[in-house]
Amino acid sequence: MKTQTNEIERELISAEQIAKRIKEVAAELDAYYDGKELIAICVLKGSIIFFADLLRAMHTPVSMEFMKVSSYGSGTTSSGKLSVALDILSNIEGKYVLIVEDIIDSGNTMYGLMNMLRTRNPADIRMVTLLDKPSRRTADISPDYTCFEIEDEFVIGYGLDYAEKYRDLPYVGVLSRSVYEN
Ligand code: PRP
Repeated sequence: MKTQTNEIERELISAEQIAKRIKEVAAELDAYYDGKELIAICVLKGSIIFFADLLRAMHTPVSMEFMKVSSYGSGTTSSGKLSVALDILSNIEGKYVLIVEDIIDSGNTMYGLMNMLRTRNPADIRMVTLLDKPSRRTADISPDYTCFEIEDEFVIGYGLDYAEKYRDLPYVGVLSRSVYEN
């Protein structure tokens, strides 16, 4: 068991709750992608744990791709503002594509990424997120599948970091305000 430091205020979503919800969402995804050739894109780094667990909970065969992107400015223009540090290797034209995110906050990253990938003419593109903070949204976008909606708190664990720490926690926790307010 990972050590709980005093930087973590509390557990928000337990490993058991995450596993249960992933099974439910995996079943929804299997129903939608039945018989389709699916490419899932992991948006590094935060999504890596969710991606690994979600894809293993699905029955649909899937090929894996990885991207590293970051957004800047607002996602209100049609192109969005996206910087791509690592792109996928395969051609998605005519393919079913599922983007896997750990969290949607302002929505700018997802907005820019969806628009960028749409220019490559996939047959279908959807997104699934572990966490959604709808109260923070500024971009005009909402995920197709959400595991958990959460309040506007600083969350860490299960892939999410604070200064690159805590991604390896098996649960989602809330970071103590004292850590980032000083
Ligand atoms: C996080 C998260 C999303 C994005 C969401 O990535 O993984 O990609 O921010 O924020 P937004 O909705 O306001 O655009 P981050 O840039 O922290 O990188 P990381 O996944 O490597 O930690």
